[in-house]
Amino acid sequence: MKLFTYIMLILVLTSCSQESKNKSSTENLADPFLDDHSYSNLKEIKTRHLHLDLDINFESKKIYGVARHRMINLNKADTAIFDIKGLEIQKVTTGERNTEIEADFVIGKYDKDSILGQPLLVKINVDDSIINIYYKTTEYSEALDWLDPSLTSSKIHPFLYTQGQAILTRTWIPIQDSPSNRITYSADVKVPAKLRAVMSAKNDKKRNPTGLYHFEMNKSIPCYLIALAVGDLAYSSLSENTGFFCEPELSSRCKSEFIDLPKMLAVAEKIYGKYQWEQYDLLILPYSFPFGGMENPMLTFVNPTIITGDRSLISVVAHELAHSWSGNLVSNKSWNDFWINEGFTVYFEHRIMEELYGKEISDILALVEIYELDDELRRIKESKHPEDSKLLLNLKYRNPDEGVTDIAYVKGSWLLKSLEAEVGRKNFDLFLTNYFSTYKFSTISTEEFIKYLNKNLLNGSKSSINVDEWINKEGLPTNKVEIVSERLNVMRNLAESFGAGKDVFAPKITYRKEKVKGKVRKRKIIEQLKKEDFITQEWQMFIRYLPGTITVDKLELLDKYFSFNNTQNAEIALDWFSLCIKSGYDEILPYVERFLKKVGRRKFVLPIYELLNEQSKYKNFAKSVFSSQKLFYHAVTRNSVEKLLQN
Ligand code: BES
Ligand code: ZN
Repeated sequence: MKLFTYIMLILVLTSCSQESKNKSSTENLADPFLDDHSYSNLKEIKTRHLHLDLDINFESKKIYGVARHRMINLNKADTAIFDIKGLEIQKVTTGERNTEIEADFVIGKYDKDSILGQPLLVKINVDDSIINIYYKTTEYSEALDWLDPSLTSSKIHPFLYTQGQAILTRTWIPIQDSPSNRITYSADVKVPAKLRAVMSAKNDKKRNPTGLYHFEMNKSIPCYLIALAVGDLAYSSLSENTGFFCEPELSSRCKSEFIDLPKMLAVAEKIYGKYQWEQYDLLILPYSFPFGGMENPMLTFVNPTIITGDRSLISVVAHELAHSWSGNLVSNKSWNDFWINEGFTVYFEHRIMEELYGKEISDILALVEIYELDDELRRIKESKHPEDSKLLLNLKYRNPDEGVTDIAYVKGSWLLKSLEAEVGRKNFDLFLTNYFSTYKFSTISTEEFIKYLNKNLLNGSKSSINVDEWINKEGLPTNKVEIVSERLNVMRNLAESFGAGKDVFAPKITYRKEKVKGKVRKRKIIEQLKKEDFITQEWQMFIRYLPGTITVDKLELLDKYFSFNNTQNAEIALDWFSLCIKSGYDEILPYVERFLKKVGRRKFVLPIYELLNEQSKYKNFAKSVFSSQKLFYHAVTRNSVEKLLQN
């Protein structure tokens, strides 16, 4: 294989030609390999174990690192190709520490739209098995969120965290950034002495006053799951193998919110078999974290918006825990198979919630999501890519982020619910337990899954579920399970009556005759529905069921009863603010502004900016809030909002 020479030649030749040709040359580099979203030549040579030496510098907001790759050369490769984006490569060597020899390397051009970043090609001898890449992160390292103390809970210490999924690991580590490859990793991390480092690996429960931390992840994982956070973090244990890290002043609120974690783990194990990762901890991040949760192994990262005081958003934890099986144990082979991670996880999340809190609750969760899926299907149908409503995606030349829609999550989970209804829960559970043990610590494509499904579940029996239609056709098949919830029907009735002008929340006064000491007396009884009478998801659906044409005076009345303008529950806030913006309730703007300046989770922030941007009277408001806030958002949220506001 003289790949290195060949590619050098391409790069040299194209660098003499025009700019546009340059771009397409590296774009096509990805073609012959395994993954549309990685330049790495995994079929020829791949990392088995990665050791990281990292120095975390808060002054310069940079990580100074060495990525030491132990490789397996499968095909006598003379070149190893890594993915990098927004990194400064200083030198590359081969060999063990202290006997390293400098190696030649070339860095290709950015692809069109700079989605993939750049290929880093390292020239090697066929018997070289260790490649050490010395590098620095830059301000373009999009995985990294460096927070000034003012953006933390304590406001005293700075904070750093990483977000790798889907293809951001290459922005903080030079790596073969494809989910199709699994690696083990270890790390030595140096942080300021007052801070603590934690990773998606085994974590010390105690702080180290020297600021030096060592980590080991001995089970193989796809590299989007390598994660690091640094801050003033305290550990609280919830059971022998569960607990959480958070800023110290949040500890008691977290303890009460996450008290069910040990039970949750036990229930999950009861359904799908032993938990394979030893420890399960949560890390509570600052508000700018762009997701609700991220399933980094052994240490799920969560957004503080899930701490509501009433445990009503605990299903996010059930979801991330479920990923310890679907996603982390069995991972999607490419980002086109993303539903394999998320569809299974939502299905499993509902099973955990059902077991812990009852079917009524898990059905409510499912219906809240199905409502969102309907909106998503409409949006996708009218978009440039109507084919995105298929479960199996084609994201070539596109950012895998575009596949993060309710299709993977909700349509995916609905396929599994429908299969379960078809074959019965007992058979389906047996099938899934075998599936996890067959594919554990490996990756799977949609095609492989379908083969496995046909062979091990559907074969022989005549199925009314047309799996091919679910996977390869747009929209939703009609033969799916139906879910109804009496409690949500009550909310619909309340919303319809209220919308039609009936003040259903006004105090109701009735009189009851009572006998007191032999005399009949009339007793006045005042009944009124309170906010606490319904859970978060019931309120969300109530707000969604209100007519789109609702008048401002009715919105004001609702706020008088339930203080929705000031709600601290971000799920309710999103539905409420959306309705208020659509209804032209101008007084909502200061509350919306306060929310957008506090929370950076994309799921909440993006739709609000979108709705504001749709109305000419709110456009400037959206632009000015965003420009004052954009440095507070993580790049994931910032880039999405930026793209939206450009249109
Ligand atoms: N793994 C995802 C988050 C993710 C997906 C990050 C794709 C980057 C690319 C995580 O498990 C997730 O789905 N989070 C949801 C939680 C919800 C479905 C309970 C979120 O953040 O909203
Ligand atoms: Zn998920």
